[in-house]
Amino acid sequence: MKRISLTQYLVEEQRLNNNIPAELRLLIEVVARACKTISHAVGKGALGEVLGSAETENIQGEVQKKLDILSNEILLEANEWGGHLAAMASEEMESIHLIPNRYPKGEYMLLFDPLDGSSNIDVNVTIGTIFSVIKAPEGMATPTEQDFLQAGSKQVAAGYAIYGPQTMFVLTTGQGVNCFTLDREMGSWVLTQRNMTIPEDTQEYAINASNSRHWYPPVTRYIDELLAGTTGPRGKNFNMRWIAAMVTDVHRILNRGGIFMYPADAREPDKAGKLRLMYEANPMSMLIEQAGGASTNGKQRILDIQPEKLHQRVAVFLGSKNEVERVTSYHLEK
Ligand code: AHG
Ligand code: MN
Ligand code: MN
Ligand code: MN
Repeated sequence: MKRISLTQYLVEEQRLNNNIPAELRLLIEVVARACKTISHAVGKGALGEVLGSAETENIQGEVQKKLDILSNEILLEANEWGGHLAAMASEEMESIHLIPNRYPKGEYMLLFDPLDGSSNIDVNVTIGTIFSVIKAPEGMATPTEQDFLQAGSKQVAAGYAIYGPQTMFVLTTGQGVNCFTLDREMGSWVLTQRNMTIPEDTQEYAINASNSRHWYPPVTRYIDELLAGTTGPRGKNFNMRWIAAMVTDVHRILNRGGIFMYPADAREPDKAGKLRLMYEANPMSMLIEQAGGASTNGKQRILDIQPEKLHQRVAVFLGSKNEVERVTSYHLEK
């Protein structure tokens, strides 16, 4: 098999489709390199003294794991000096991170969930890193938090790294979704799947069913119908998977279809779900749509949502098109 590296893929993509300017290419390569470093730390586990909690809380009100903090630092450091960024934002930082004055500034802004699926870290189950790239407003020397509040449809690139039995890097720059596998001996990302596509129909769903008593009626109706199997209104059986790491659930869906849900529920007035719009829902929605799937918050396309806050949460229904459209239609019914 002829091996195409991430670098060769990016260079050729730029040459053929002209959709990856040199600065964006650098940005993607730097993020991928940082993910290699995170993958290395993840793989060391107890031997690298990276497991366990850090006993600090992030802005989300979550206890941070050591690896949440370490991964955040790795991404910040890797991306500061290249000259391709104006600022960064992260699930683990209360406010945005400006590029220090000693470095040149670029036209892009990077957002990330440095470590997705933290609850899996200490039990050696697959986790990942999710990222999203947008452009800084033109002529903006020092971006503000406000400048980050762009709808997901404005993303110029999005992707994730997944640290599982294999380490992979999945990327879209708006021309389909491609997957690279880390050759651990060579230290290079090798293109292993081109144009990942999600089947429109599926018999597999992912939801944390322990929250079912809090669900709103459209979600209860949809799940009850799936559970009813061959004799129910859907006339077929559905299987369930839940990994507690969005990155891993989305990776499965990109490979064999399925629907992933983290709905809003009745726990608090206005509980808008758990997942974060800017670091999780937007980048994953871009990937899913680029692979022919759909992604909504139950009522509207996630990529059309105008963010109001950096750390905003959102309900998520994404994956195989026909299932996402069905559960969305249940929300829209009067
Ligand atoms: P994070 O580890 O970045 O805080 O995100 C965890 C998210 C998401 O990856 C996953 O789908 C979900 O939380 C799991 O939530 P439950 O523990 O409620 O199942
Ligand atoms: Mn978290
Ligand atoms: Mn996450
Ligand atoms: Mn996280």
